[in-house]
Formats: sequence, C-alpha cells, structure tokens
Amino acid sequence: MARITSIKGRILYNSRGSKTIEIDVISDNKYLGRVCSPSGASVGKHEAISFPQNKPEKSLELLKNNEKKFHNLDSSDLKSIHDTLREMDSTPNYSKIGGSLAFALTIAAVDSASKALDIPLFKLLSKKTDHRFPFPLGNILGGGAHAGPGTPDIQEILICSTGSKTIRDAIETNLEVHKELGKILIKKDPTFTNGRGDEGGWAPKLKNDQALEVAAKACEELGFTLGKEVSLGVDFASSTQWNEKKKKYIYDRAGFENTPQEQIDFASEIIKKYKLVYAEDAVHEEAFEEMSALTKKFPHVLITGDDLLVTNTKILKKAVKLKACNGAILKVNQAGSLYDALEFAREANTNKIGIITSHRSGESTDAHISHIGIATKSKMLKVGVVGGERIAKLNELVRLAEYDLIRGMVEI
Ligand code: PGA
Ligand code: ZN
Repeated sequence: MARITSIKGRILYNSRGSKTIEIDVISDNKYLGRVCSPSGASVGKHEAISFPQNKPEKSLELLKNNEKKFHNLDSSDLKSIHDTLREMDSTPNYSKIGGSLAFALTIAAVDSASKALDIPLFKLLSKKTDHRFPFPLGNILGGGAHAGPGTPDIQEILICSTGSKTIRDAIETNLEVHKELGKILIKKDPTFTNGRGDEGGWAPKLKNDQALEVAAKACEELGFTLGKEVSLGVDFASSTQWNEKKKKYIYDRAGFENTPQEQIDFASEIIKKYKLVYAEDAVHEEAFEEMSALTKKFPHVLITGDDLLVTNTKILKKAVKLKACNGAILKVNQAGSLYDALEFAREANTNKIGIITSHRSGESTDAHISHIGIATKSKMLKVGVVGGERIAKLNELVRLAEYDLIRGMVEI
C-alpha cells in the first residue's frame, strides 16, 4: 500500500490554449501521479463546473489550503480520496472546488498508486481478468461548436473500424479513412485549406448532407462496406441547435428548422441512410421521450446520451427507467471525481447500457482515459483520430497491447 505524502498543482494550458490545472500526487515520497484536466466546448447543462467562478487559480488555492487532509490516505483508495474532496465541496456540480480539481486529483492519486504497486492503471481500477480493448471511435469531420462558420451544424462525423480484430488494425483503419477523406475534400474543393476542428476532424465548408456523403465516400473508396468493416457514427450535439423559446432545432448553417418530431425523422433518416453504428445526442439534453422513441426504433445502434446524461448516475437511472438510451458517454470531468465516474460505469454495466469513454474537445496529452476505457468495459473509446493530444490516447492502447492481460476487442 502506498500513502499520499504530497499534492501540488499548477496552471497549464489545454489543446485549445485555455488555462487548466495539472495536479501532482506523490505517494511514499517518490511515486508521482500526474494529471492535467480537459474541458468541453459543448457543455451539458447539468455537468460539473470546471472551476469556481471560472478561475483555475481558485481551485489551486483551495487545494493548497486543504492539501494536508489527503496526507497518509492510501493513494489507491478512491473512496477515501473522493470523500475527502466531498468534505471540501458537497455541491452536486462541484461548484466550490471545481470538477477539474476532483478529476485531476483522483486520477493522479491512482496513477501514483499504479506506479507504487507496479501495475498498469487499468488493472488497478479493475481486478477482473477478462480485459478487452474498446473500439476507437474518432472524429473525421467536424462542425458545430468545434469549428467555424460554413462548416456543418452537426458537430461530429465519426469513424469506427467495426470489423477489426486487433487494436492496431482498428487504429490504422481509422487513420486511413481520415486521410482518404482529406484527399476527397481537396479534390472536391481545391481551395480547401486542410483546416481541422478542435478534435482533429476535417472542417470543410459543407452542409450536413454533403459532409455525410463525403465521409461515406471515403469509406467506400477504400473498398469498405459501411456497417461491415467500418461504420460511421454521428454526434448531433443537438442541444447546440435547440431553441427553448421556439421549441425548435435551428440549423443555422444549413438553413432549416426542425420541430421535435421532425428532428426524430431527420436523425432516423441519417441513421438508416448511412447505416450508423452510433448516434449521440440526436435530440436535445432534456428530450428523454424523444430519445426513448429513437432507442426503440434502433435497438442495434448505440443510441447514446452525452449532454443527456452528463456522466451523472442519478440521471442515468432516470434514463434507464425511461429506456431513453442504450449507450452512455463517460466523461470523468462531467461527473467530477473518478469515483463518481466509476459509480456511473457500474450502473451502466448493470443495466446493459454500452459505455463510450470519451475525451473532451479541449484536451491534454495525458492517456489515462485509455486505461479507464478498458477498466470500465467500454464498447468504444471516443478519442479522435489525429492531433497530438488525441493520438496520445491511441498510442497508449498500442503500448497496452503488449500486455497479455488484454484479450482482443470487446463485442459491439
Ligand atoms: P465537448 O464535446 O468536449 O466540447 O463537450 C464533445 C462532445 O460533445 O462529445
Ligand atoms: Zn457529445
């Protein structure tokens, strides 16, 4: 057992260039666990807030004043570390200390413990022996809150190499499709600048339907059949379009509006036409009934809640009751602490809701979520395709393939 001997924090910058915090947890005076917090751009209404009054400095100040409370705790004992954080902040959304502090401190603690115990992090988080790789799910074309004017309203078109038998093949196939799509875009529009959105997906001036067409074309030109070797997914991030006053989805860039029923039809058409394996936030974050309709209609597609669930166990229980989804995004910083997120994962697994462990659009080069994805038995790991902060997570999966503790891919 390793005991926490010191904790220190600093201000760093995320992939969008915004200020964030990094936390060092040291056990037994020598085992360093280090974690930098990510942050989102299309943030769910009910998720943990990043920093009190939006000030990372405030979180660090609070840590400094309370650091000693963590001394001598077992760095692998997530519950005690979580409870100590909760003594500092019992608000549901970590408004006093900031979710970023809860995120970084809890993951840094187990990171430090895994070094002290000399076992990989995923193994520390899950004692089970039947570990499998989640399928990497990556953004190949982006718009919405992640890219500028002229790009699609739809936030993310995603690729998943559903036919792959090994993690390396899954990663390489996603890379191939991303590359092929780049070539198609430049052929289609010689003025295309190779611009990319926050998560590394191409950001061309295209309408939603044109963007989906070129994504499908990239897969087909490589000889793949959609829904077989590779499959497309979409994060509609529909809360961005939802206008509460008008009770309509406003697709500004494409120039149309959808009533709630039209939105269901719009998403259904896309799911069918492009044989999607994955559809995230196809309706807005409070539309549980519409989500239920989609889940009923497409039992074999991962109808997934991100803004809908915000990695919140209470909200997940409501969604389960209403059969509002069969897939759940797990973003640790939406929940706050890693303890909160693992509780959420337990609830999802108990109810056979497929977990998709996910990055945020503003990321660090840390790769802990690759371990968290394996430990939570995630079906998919949504971490992008290219970009240093995205590829870092994929490269960690390649390293982990060297362990004979992991036996192939999960079933989806
Ligand atoms: P975010 O977006 O990290 O900007 O919230 C990602 C997503 O909506 O899945
Ligand atoms: Zn999302």
